[in-house]
Amino acid sequence: MSRSYYIAGNWKMHKTRSESAELARALVDQLKDGKHTYLAAPSFTSLETVGAIVKGTNIRLGAQDCACEEQGAHTGEVSVLQLKDLGVQTIILGHSERRHTYKEDDALINKKVKLALQYGFEVILCIGELLEEREAGKVEAVCETQTVKGLEGVTAAEMANVVIAYEPVWAIGTGKTATPEDAEAVHAFVRKVLARLYGAELAEKVLIQYGGSVKPENAAQLMAKENIDGALVGGASLKPETFVPIAKFV
Ligand code: 13P
Repeated sequence: MSRSYYIAGNWKMHKTRSESAELARALVDQLKDGKHTYLAAPSFTSLETVGAIVKGTNIRLGAQDCACEEQGAHTGEVSVLQLKDLGVQTIILGHSERRHTYKEDDALINKKVKLALQYGFEVILCIGELLEEREAGKVEAVCETQTVKGLEGVTAAEMANVVIAYEPVWAIGTGKTATPEDAEAVHAFVRKVLARLYGAELAEKVLIQYGGSVKPENAAQLMAKENIDGALVGGASLKPETFVPIAKFV
């Protein structure tokens, strides 16, 4: 079964609107002949600006989070209704910075996943272990729990709009990338978990991105692995010079 590649840029809390516009324009220009699926996920404040630039191109518009309720008294949160209104197509959920810095647990993330899917968004559900969990031999247990709990109540039909991103926390922003072999082992394991939940045929279709210090120098080796279907890129997504070579790894 051949899956397509999906290369996403998570711009995190970087860039003003004008800086975001500059990056988005460069990506539109330089990726117009790209063969894969692409995503730009700027800060909420830049979504409208970037959305206008990527509209009608091969770059999807992504948000980095959403609230777990549609609307109401939730100071500081941003809802799926507001993201829909901005033309957002994809929402990244359960990122390790949300899990660990902002203490989001699996139940909250699951609520967001279900709400986003209900509103027709594509969801990139991030999973991944901490360094101490890896050292304690808990990689599979952690990734299994985050996958199973994150997807609780998600139907097989809704899975067509779910992408998983394996992002080992110790590899994020550290310059330390998982070896292609280590990453592949976790991706293959996650696919087995998905097969148990949804059957082998469906599991074969789910894209599983790798994230954590993806760079132009290591992208091709990672993508060459059977179960690695793309990348969720942080630091290297902030400049066309580093994102475009990753996006065009082949
Ligand atoms: P880096 O590419 O900066 O390690 O970040 C990865 C990430 O967290 C993407 O969501």
